[in-house]
Amino acid sequence: MSEAKRLAAEKALEYVQRDMVIGVGTGSTVAYFIDGLAKLPFPIKAAVSSSEQSTAQLKKHGIEVMELNHAGTLELYVDGADECDGNNNLIKGGGAALTREKIIAEASKQFVCIIDPSKQVPVLGTFPLPVEVIPMARSLVAREILQRTGGQPVWRMGTTTDNGNQILDVHNLAITDPVALERELNQIPGVVAVGLFARRKADVVIVGGTPPQVI
Ligand code: 5RP
Repeated sequence: MSEAKRLAAEKALEYVQRDMVIGVGTGSTVAYFIDGLAKLPFPIKAAVSSSEQSTAQLKKHGIEVMELNHAGTLELYVDGADECDGNNNLIKGGGAALTREKIIAEASKQFVCIIDPSKQVPVLGTFPLPVEVIPMARSLVAREILQRTGGQPVWRMGTTTDNGNQILDVHNLAITDPVALERELNQIPGVVAVGLFARRKADVVIVGGTPPQVI
């Protein structure tokens, strides 16, 4: 699938314009996009990064990394996803960067999501839904999620997010109403961010292939 990821990332470069400040996601698909940014025939102004991992790669290429607080509204955000349904609703957070990704998506006018075909699903939830939690609330949030959704939360042991928090991966969900589930889970005290991108979903999804499919 790495070739499909590369093809999706390459297509997303067509959305980049000279001197833009671009929001940049996290993951192996975005890694191809960052490599592509470095090869563009024109400069971008800067990138706002969603993770330490992407920041390191951007800096390695000599691309300036800007704080979101200094960037204002972004024209473009490019990021991958773990699952995508037929309405461009997403599950994200497999790389534990969901909170910063969600903030940047919200701050952006256009969210272009780049995926390989294996990420396309009719109903979200086969990929366990990541939820970032404040460490002291982990057990409380897990009990609440079980009670409210019937899903099985599993602590992603050994993972600390860039924000110093922990991740619960919720198994056995069939997410037929992503907006409602996102709202419900966001109400649990101790939840920092839910890896459902439905209220602010992707504007464009690029599925890597020959040729890439733009949805
Ligand atoms: C990180 C993410 C990634 O976008 C998601 O996990 C997809 O990763 P990859 O491009 O490596 O398949 O949400 O938090």
